[in-house]
Amino acid sequence: MAVNKIICSVNNVDYASIRKAMCAGARTLEEVSAQAGTCNQCPGCQENLPWILASVCGCRKVSLQAVLEAIQGGADTVEKVAAATGAGLDCGRCKALVANIIALGR
Ligand code: FES
Repeated sequence: MAVNKIICSVNNVDYASIRKAMCAGARTLEEVSAQAGTCNQCPGCQENLPWILASVCGCRKVSLQAVLEAIQGGADTVEKVAAATGAGLDCGRCKALVANIIALGR
């Protein structure tokens, strides 16, 4: 996503704020709401939060599930997850999220 667009129109929460919350451990709608302030009810939240939460790497289209499977398969560093899934091999913006997923195991 090239533009940091507003996702939650009720509370004016943008995409970058949601990704920042995810990098701090938010994985559920409730956790994103608590950390980033999304309302989780408006059309922007309803349309976008499910795919944002399910996605780790936009460049390589790598899902959270794929990263979790790589970790379960023994990838215990950002580099190993990149080798297994491709996440982080382009712009690198998803590396912080990958590191957090490894740290939390979820
Ligand atoms: S978002 Fe993962 S490499 Fe760009």
